[in-house]
Amino acid sequence: MIPYGRQWLEEDDIDAVVEVLRSDFLTTGPAVPAFEAALAAATGAPHAVALNSGTSALHAMYAAAGLVAGDEIVTSPLTFAATANAALYLGATVRFVDVEPDTGNLDPVGVAEAMGERTKLVVPVDFAGHPADYDALRPVAERYAVRLVADGAHSLGARYRGRQVGTLADATEVSFHPVKPITTAEGGAVLTADEGIARHAALFRTHGITREPLDLHHPDEGSWWNEQHVLGFNYRLTDVQAALGTNQLTKLDRFIARRREIAAAYDEALADLDGIELPGRRPDVEPGWHLYVIRTRVPARRRPLFERLRREGLGVQVHYLPVYWHPYYQGLGYRRGVCPNAERFYQTAISLPIYPRMTDAELTRSIDVVRDAVARYA
Ligand SMILES: Cc1ncc(COP(=O)(O)O)c(C=O)c1O
Repeated sequence: MIPYGRQWLEEDDIDAVVEVLRSDFLTTGPAVPAFEAALAAATGAPHAVALNSGTSALHAMYAAAGLVAGDEIVTSPLTFAATANAALYLGATVRFVDVEPDTGNLDPVGVAEAMGERTKLVVPVDFAGHPADYDALRPVAERYAVRLVADGAHSLGARYRGRQVGTLADATEVSFHPVKPITTAEGGAVLTADEGIARHAALFRTHGITREPLDLHHPDEGSWWNEQHVLGFNYRLTDVQAALGTNQLTKLDRFIARRREIAAAYDEALADLDGIELPGRRPDVEPGWHLYVIRTRVPARRRPLFERLRREGLGVQVHYLPVYWHPYYQGLGYRRGVCPNAERFYQTAISLPIYPRMTDAELTRSIDVVRDAVARYA
């Protein structure tokens, strides 16, 4: 089976991990700040805070951006449930706004219409590694004096109008799950220029407890003294994982370049097929191509095409069922039909294999299988 995505670990990644396993610190050691410094340097974000998953990074980012019980976030339903769940963890609610039909990204016009008194955060999701339309979203957030914070789980390494992911929003969460642009097995980070957000996210990941001398309410108690200032969690990334992340980060450009080659090959090889649409791409955007999502023109053709591709050995996937279609969200009172573009996107989408380690032979096989299957089934 050729998977839709997978990690690429090389001997030097393994060496980096083993070195930490032999060192004094498995966690709370020097590898974590080193990884954070490398992330900041690679993205241009002044601050990076590493956490143990993209989900915990979302939770910390929302809390650090001031989201509290009774507030609302405005976000896309075409995402992994975590984008919305992290708002629920804080007692906030989620307003789902429809997506652009071509990119699957949050529609800025819909966001402007959805802004309400309780809205605290606007949360675009860089679907498939294609950055959302930040220059259109920014003025909406500013008009309502709310923060723009991004779910960049797919988009580390992508650019929008020459600017890097990590610098496009007030804060950006990224994920290091194995299928993501780089991996730490599980892991995530918050990237931001806002020192307050960075400090709060760092506090949040370690129980809300600080030892920073300047922050202590009672600084003279002794060198053992520490204080809990907010309610936090144990969301720490280990040093073992951070060392892997630092080494993986040195390969980000190479990984993204290969993803772009694969996307360009699919674009060229599949362009003439009438039964499917290829991924939308806006001018001035350099996507990271975390996913390559084709869409059948007819929703009823998606399932037979998907099943044929699986039978032929392609580990295709579907991203994403609209979050509010999950029974849990239906139980909260959300109903189908509110975001028709996202629903149609889901009903027609198939994610083809794309990952940096994909060989030319695997790519050729994938293209041949897709062409044949589309001709028969779509
Ligand atoms: C869009 C999106 N947001 C958030 C997450 C959560 O990241 P993690 O799996 O690292 O917790 C994911 C990961 O699957 C994702 O795809």
